[in-house]
Amino acid sequence: MKKYFLIVVLIFFVSCNKQTDRNKDNFVIGFSQCTTDDDWRKTMNEEMFREIRLSQTDRFKLIIKDAKGDNQKQIDDIEELVNSGIDLLIVSPNEADPLTKVVNETFDKGIPVITVDRNINSNKFSAYIGADNFVVGKEAGLFAVELLNKKGKIIEISGLKGSTPAMERASGFRDAIQNYPEIQIIKSINGDWLMENSIISTDTLFNNLRDFDLVFAHNDVMAYGAYLSAKKYGIKPFIIGIDGLNNPNAGVQFVLDGYINGTFLYPTGGDKAIQLAMAILNKEPYERYNYLNTIKIDKSNARMTRLQGEQIGDQQSKIDVLDGQLSDMYSVLRTKNTFLLLTSSLVVLVLLIAVLTFYIMINKNRINKELGNKHKIISLQYNTISKQRDDLIRMLKITEETKEKKLQLLTNIYHEFRNVLTIIKPPVKELMDFQHNEIVSKKLSVVNKGAERLLRLSEEILNYTNNNIYNTVLTYTNINLSKFVSNNIDVFKQKIIEKRIKLIQNIQEEIYIDCDVSVIEKVMYNLLSNAIKYSYEGGKIVISLIDKDTNVLITIKNSGKGIPSTDLPHIFTRLYQAKNLNSGLKNEGTGIGLALCKELVQLHGGRINVDSVENEFAEFTVIIPKNHQQLNFEDEALTGSFGISPDKEVNNSAKENTILVVDDNPDILRLIVNIIKNEYNVITAYNGEKGLEQVLNNSPDIIISDILMPIMDGMTMCIKIKNNPLISHIPIILLTAVDSTDSNVKGLEVGADAYITKPFNEELLKMTIRNLIAKRNRYKDIFGFTKFVENFSRTKAKEDQDFIKKCIKYIYENIEDEHFTIDHLSELMNVSRSSLYKKIKRIAGLRAVDFMKAAKLNYAARLLFNSNLTVSEIAWKSGFSDTKYFSKCFSIQFGSNPSVFRNKLINQN
Ligand code: FRU
Repeated sequence: MKKYFLIVVLIFFVSCNKQTDRNKDNFVIGFSQCTTDDDWRKTMNEEMFREIRLSQTDRFKLIIKDAKGDNQKQIDDIEELVNSGIDLLIVSPNEADPLTKVVNETFDKGIPVITVDRNINSNKFSAYIGADNFVVGKEAGLFAVELLNKKGKIIEISGLKGSTPAMERASGFRDAIQNYPEIQIIKSINGDWLMENSIISTDTLFNNLRDFDLVFAHNDVMAYGAYLSAKKYGIKPFIIGIDGLNNPNAGVQFVLDGYINGTFLYPTGGDKAIQLAMAILNKEPYERYNYLNTIKIDKSNARMTRLQGEQIGDQQSKIDVLDGQLSDMYSVLRTKNTFLLLTSSLVVLVLLIAVLTFYIMINKNRINKELGNKHKIISLQYNTISKQRDDLIRMLKITEETKEKKLQLLTNIYHEFRNVLTIIKPPVKELMDFQHNEIVSKKLSVVNKGAERLLRLSEEILNYTNNNIYNTVLTYTNINLSKFVSNNIDVFKQKIIEKRIKLIQNIQEEIYIDCDVSVIEKVMYNLLSNAIKYSYEGGKIVISLIDKDTNVLITIKNSGKGIPSTDLPHIFTRLYQAKNLNSGLKNEGTGIGLALCKELVQLHGGRINVDSVENEFAEFTVIIPKNHQQLNFEDEALTGSFGISPDKEVNNSAKENTILVVDDNPDILRLIVNIIKNEYNVITAYNGEKGLEQVLNNSPDIIISDILMPIMDGMTMCIKIKNNPLISHIPIILLTAVDSTDSNVKGLEVGADAYITKPFNEELLKMTIRNLIAKRNRYKDIFGFTKFVENFSRTKAKEDQDFIKKCIKYIYENIEDEHFTIDHLSELMNVSRSSLYKKIKRIAGLRAVDFMKAAKLNYAARLLFNSNLTVSEIAWKSGFSDTKYFSKCFSIQFGSNPSVFRNKLINQN
């Protein structure tokens, strides 16, 4: 729109310009005058200027150059005029020969040339104007004949020999007297058109030569010079001059005063020359030779002529006064015209702005409407998503409830077990006490041990179903695991014999580990009873215990039906009962055993693997760390990884996303880490404050946090994160044992993106993470702090990236301070200004100031996405006091202006 407006304004002004310049044909006329020393030439120049003024148009401009009687200067003058771009040249050549070349060249360039009074030696001129000098000379000759009465001696005083009037006047004069043999020109002297020269020449001549009757001077001033010399020597010859200039102290007056006998009008014709020039420039028809009339002025008409001259002089003075007034009026008129033009321009501009405003308003309304529609769609989508989220929460609740019910059922069953066992145990004890048959005693002892064990198991399972596993506090004791495992096997020996199972024990001796005995016992019990349970009669069980580096490996392998490959991935899932575990064998499993095993092993910092080939074998391997160490959260938080051995770090680099887990309970923390560490880089913190620090330093892709924690709880951390535009885009999953609707609502209110209660479903947690990460990745390229730092860091070196990170951190800490400069930054970074410049240039490839600007703009981009602030507010908050400048810089960095950028994000969302 802005573009169109500019075009319209441009067209308007161009057309205005055209109006003022209705006819673009403005012309410059250059006049090269051979001299301006005498009145005749001065009169000619005045006439020219007057004519220009009287033309009452600004179209013609006259430049006159005075050659001062110097041929070379006149050549230079003409070249200068031509170079300045004149449209027409008027020239009165000092002498014909020397000036011909430059006039020819001018003419050849297509510039019209008018020769005035004097001419050149070629035809390369457009027009000539002046009297016909031959005719003038001839008229003077005829007058001489008349004065001499056809007999007498003549002295000729010539004009400048090389000038055409001198040549032509001489030959015209001779032509007139040639028929009178008794008339002779006895001497021809050179006066060069100048009175002084004439006085000098005639003075010398008249001193010696007095026998002559008439002096013919080629102009009046030389004639007057001759008169002065003749007077000096007391002689009174007839004197004839040429020019007849009707000014005081010029030819006509000389006649009146009796100094000379006659003169011939040689019109200056300045006005006529200009008229001719205008005709040529206006491309009107014109004559090539424009001869001005001559008349004789002698005693008979001198007075009348002089009077006329005076009148003309008066008239001209009046004309000049009027002309001056006219010029003044013209300039007033021009001012008024300009004012009028400006006013009308303004009116048109106002109209244009009005039209434009109208257009913008219509457009704005349309955009508002579109935005409104989009907003409706977004609201609808939001409602749908909210509904889906609510549904999900409801479903989760239902799942939880179902699970609860199932567990309740199991609890009831185990209560029944306990009751039955409580009933069985006393009579068995009594029987043992009252009979002394050794074989019976032994058998009774096995029954009693089995009953006790069942009782213990029932209690443990009750614990388990009460979801207390996460709260189980492990008690570590250093034991000889080899012995402990053997003892555990012993418990099952009877059963093994009964089933005729071949037992192979591969137990490495004297392996000591820190462990919770009850955990290991439960795991062993589960795995051994399964192995026996799923072995065929006469099958084989291999039990190994191996010391491997920092871990011990317990492997229990049984031959038998094995587990189908489709069931293998679910074997450790609670309440999952594999088909084969049921089919072919009596359904003895609850579906809890293996899940319990896995969770216990994980709780113990280990892991459990399964391998099986259907109809061949099933093999379970438990890997437990030998030494129990309390996790050092501080260190792990700093290294940014969790329990990852150096060789695993290679894999880490392939993992795209980093998850921060915040929990004060080391066991739960460990459990979550174990669940996610294969898919994600994991960093940890053990309270909200440390978590916040991790978020600011490492900008994770997702945060999983507990709610109830010391120092800073999860809710507070969540509020702090969501209120910081730098990190507010990072999704947060609140994970807590508190399962009340209130907490749910509160969690979502503080901006948590998901809320999962403990004990959580592993798959649900993973799925929630995946969904949130997919959503988050869409914005990562723009807002990821790490990405941002990487963008600015051309080197991969950690210290360089840290340096850049630190710079950005300080810039952001002072972002609203528009007076925060590179000097302040260098002070904070504790480096000199020049080394800061050098370092930033090397790492980021940018000048420090540009780097600072880019960082601020990135901050602004986040605000555009994460806040409802206006563009001006964001500019101000990002350290730009000038919104226009901010928008300009923003467009350069992000390819679109802030509003468009924000709309794009909203649309993408
Ligand atoms: C003036 C003048 C006139 C003469 C003319 C000839 O400079 O000398 O007196 O008629 O030039 O070109």
